[in-house]
Parts: sequence; C-alpha cells; structure tokens
Amino acid sequence: MLKVDGIDTYYGLGHILHSVSLTVKRGEIVCLLGRNGAGKTTTMRSIMGLTPPRRGSILFKGEPILGVKPFRISRKGIGFVPDSREVFADLSIEENLEISERRFEGRVFWDREKAYELFPALKKICSRKAGCLSGGERQMLTIARALATNPDFLLLDEPTEGLAPLVVAMLVEKIAELRSFGLTVLLAEQNQKVALGLSDRAYIIDNGAIRWHGAVGELRENEAVRKKYLLV
Ligand SMILES: Nc1ncnc2c1ncn2[C@@H]1O[C@H](COP(=O)(O)OP(=O)(O)OP(=O)(O)O)[C@@H](O)[C@H]1O
Ligand SMILES: [Mg+2]
Repeated sequence: MLKVDGIDTYYGLGHILHSVSLTVKRGEIVCLLGRNGAGKTTTMRSIMGLTPPRRGSILFKGEPILGVKPFRISRKGIGFVPDSREVFADLSIEENLEISERRFEGRVFWDREKAYELFPALKKICSRKAGCLSGGERQMLTIARALATNPDFLLLDEPTEGLAPLVVAMLVEKIAELRSFGLTVLLAEQNQKVALGLSDRAYIIDNGAIRWHGAVGELRENEAVRKKYLLV
C-alpha cells in the first residue's frame, strides 16, 4: 500500500534521512522504532509531504506522491496524527470533529458516530472544550480527528508518549482495533513494549537510516539489535 524507496530528506542544510526505504502492506500495522532524534518524525513528515524528500520515491496505492501537496496526500487517504497532538482548544470535542470531517467517493465514511464508537469516552464529554482535556483524552481526539478526514492509512507519531500506563494500555487496544475498521497503520515509537505488542513488522531507524527490519517476533528475540539501537 505504501512503498518508500531510498528517500533523502533535509532540514535546510541538515541532511537528516539517508536513503530510507520501507513498505507497508494493506491491513498491516508496521512500527518505526528509534531513539530520540533518530528520524521517525522526519520520515512521517516526508511521507505526508510536509518536508518533501529531495531524492527517492514514495508510492501510495501504486501512485507516486513525492512532490504532491500535503492536503492532496491527505485526500488520497493518508491520515497523520502528529506528536504535537494539536487540537482547537477553544472548540468542543464535537466541533473539533465536525470541522475535520470529509467525505470521499468509494471509501467508507468515518463520521462522528463511528469515531465515538471507537472512543465512547469522548462521546460522554463531547461538549467539553478541547483545551480542557487530559493527555489521554486529547490523544483520543487527535486520532478521532485524523479518522474524520476519512483515511485508509494512518501515520501515528508516538501516540503513547508521556501518558500514564493505564492510558497507554487503553490506546494500544484502540490502535489494535483500527485494523478491524479496515485501516493500515505506520506507527512511530520509542516505546518498544507498545510497538512490539501492536505491530506485525518493525523497522529500526537510527541516525536517519534504516538499520534493521523484520517481523516483531524476530526483533523480540534479537536482543543485540535492540540493545544497539533502542535502549538508551
Ligand atoms: N525543524 C527542524 N530543523 C532542523 N533540524 C531538525 C528539525 N526537526 C528535526 N530536526 C533534526 O532531525 C533529526 C531527526 O529528528 P526527528 O524529529 O525526525 O527524530 P525523531 O526520531 O522523531 O525523534 P523524537 O523521538 O525525539 O520525536 C534530529 O537530529 C533533529 O535534531
Ligand atoms: Mg519524533
């Protein structure tokens, strides 16, 4: 569904990604694991067209998307949940979802009801202002907002970072559930436990380059690789 092939991405003169390649098949949950500053967010921003790579290619559903504007990439079906968890603080949950909703031909429509079906906790407090939410509630809302743009592919950037263990466990359950809603997921994580528990396959990024990839079962057993690239 997604094929990233040899991309090089820069911030100004800073050469951040070095020939990064990865693939995600329809229906998979794939994680991109790496330490602080490894290049996870830059990879997601590259896919989304927010920081377009200077070299390489990106195919989404067989179509080249490198150089395509972010809003067009979003229309093609990629939803992005950035690590900033930005919401419109002065609007209610309901209003935040309403302004994100978009309907497309030929794709299952995510409406608010469906978002509330995934996150019943949000429905109970749907008139509350987004600026007054806890970290976990806010993360649920940012995921629900990305879903309201009606994607079939979701980029999740460190969705559990900084949240309490119980909230992390709830989110892990919800992310796993996304698959049953027909979504394919690329998940950036520093938290190995979360990533390995959720994913089918993993890529490890370090210093802007992919150092390892394989099934999560293999990674669980490969302590040498985890020690080298993941433990701080
Ligand atoms: N806007 C920017 N301008 C210049 N350099 C940047 C910018 N954003 C990130 N970088 C640099 O790019 C590298 C990769 O950063 P990136 O945010 O992709 O890492 P990350 O794996 O997402 O890390 P984290 O776990 O902290 O979110 C880092 O060295 C970082 O300092
Ligand atoms: Mg990041």
